Amino acid sequence: MRQLFPVTDMTALASDREWSLDALADAYAYPEGDGPWLRANMVSSLDGAGQHEGRSQPLSSETDMRIFGTLRGIADVVVVGAETVRLEGYRPARAREAFAARRAAAGQGPAPVIAVVSASLSLDFSLPLFTEPLVPTLVLTGAAAPAERVAAARAAGAEVLFAGDGAGVDPARAVAVLAERGLRRQLTEGGPRLLGQFVAAGVLDELCLTVSPTMTAGGAQRIAGGPSVAVPTRFRPASVLEQDGFLFTRYRRI
Ligand SMILES: NC(=O)c1ccc[n+]([C@@H]2O[C@H](COP(=O)([O-])OP(=O)(O)OC[C@H]3O[C@@H](n4cnc5c(N)ncnc54)[C@H](OP(=O)(O)O)[C@@H]3O)[C@@H](O)[C@H]2O)c1
Repeated sequence: MRQLFPVTDMTALASDREWSLDALADAYAYPEGDGPWLRANMVSSLDGAGQHEGRSQPLSSETDMRIFGTLRGIADVVVVGAETVRLEGYRPARAREAFAARRAAAGQGPAPVIAVVSASLSLDFSLPLFTEPLVPTLVLTGAAAPAERVAAARAAGAEVLFAGDGAGVDPARAVAVLAERGLRRQLTEGGPRLLGQFVAAGVLDELCLTVSPTMTAGGAQRIAGGPSVAVPTRFRPASVLEQDGFLFTRYRRI
């Protein structure tokens, strides 16, 4: 994999070397600090599709999955929308040997907590995501969530957190509620409807965007949906890596 940006010297640009998971974890380290840092990791086709036939996998690559795994490996919490959980068959995060020492040194548990955002709580609580995680899965919802579904989530072993006054979750409150539990290094894996709300609320600090060298045409969702912001939010590039034609970009909010 080559680092295209930032260019420190031309030799580095030309070198096409294998990056260890350690090197990737260093490259993607969260900034130091006490406050929350919300990073999104998404993949898009050249023509802006955020999924193909309901899945992001057809847009992805082996290296993309290595970076996906690395970003999980250094996160405290993975925040994900309920529809992505339903469509992509989410499983609990694994404890991976490659990140064990790094996580222990950072005071993190063996694997990131998965936090599912849902208003309806129409989730299959018999799935391993809820019944077999290393650390209990969190369900983020609003105060008006259906009481019997809250009870079902708890009975399955999930912990329910309220981050909104109505049925829905207030995205800024979700970030704050997770940070209050010490889950500062936050990673969202979408989907587009959830990511759009983090953008609109002004709480997305960083976007790790894989540009997949594919075109899909059709009417697939973009990586962020929902109502548009009044003024486009500006980001600046932090790094660009390349492997097999895929660009692994990272942008930070200005
Ligand atoms: N390109 C990528 O990197 C990428 C990443 C992830 C997913 N995807 C693709 O995106 C598609 C799914 O994404 P999506 O945008 O349709 O759905 P999503 O954002 O994953 O989930 C939407 C659901 O999340 C819950 N939700 C969202 N905002 C909420 C809020 N403020 N309060 C409470 N609940 C809230 C609701 O769940 P309830 O209905 O349960 O109330 C809502 O129906 C899939 O095709 C997946 O493959 C692509």
